[in-house]
Amino acid sequence: MQEEESGGEQSEQQEGGSGDGSGGGDGSGGGETAANGEEVYQNNCASCHGQDLSGGAGPALDTVGGKYSKDEIKQIIADGFPDAGMPPGLVQGEDAEAVAQWLSEQQ
Ligand code: HEC
Repeated sequence: MQEEESGGEQSEQQEGGSGDGSGGGDGSGGGETAANGEEVYQNNCASCHGQDLSGGAGPALDTVGGKYSKDEIKQIIADGFPDAGMPPGLVQGEDAEAVAQWLSEQQ
């Protein structure tokens, strides 16, 4: 008879635990789940294209969003310009996605 009592309690507890399941974190502590495009740019691209997108070893990118779409920028990042000095595949995956998105907004 004691067993029946404790069984009832357990099934009540399970009801309360439903989250919305939309967290989607990648396990890194704190901060945003998606990569930050501007940060990716500063870490990987600014050395050639300038911290304020004004150019340097590479061309200015301050109006690049008017010239290329996000997908085209992603392609440029993947291919690079090996002959002109921009290595291919500098950033990949989520980071490439984020920086392409951010640059496509610069116009
Ligand atoms: C080692 C230097 C270097 C780095 C680092 C670099 N680039 Fe470049 N990038 C260049 C050069 C040089 C060109 C010009 C290529 C040409 O015109 O043939 C260029 C061209 C580009 C272009 C085309 C611009 C235009 O107006 O046609 C885009 C877009 C671009 N880079 C994005 C990026 C992004 C995004 C990153 C970081 C993930 C990055 N670059 C990192 C050197 C660099």
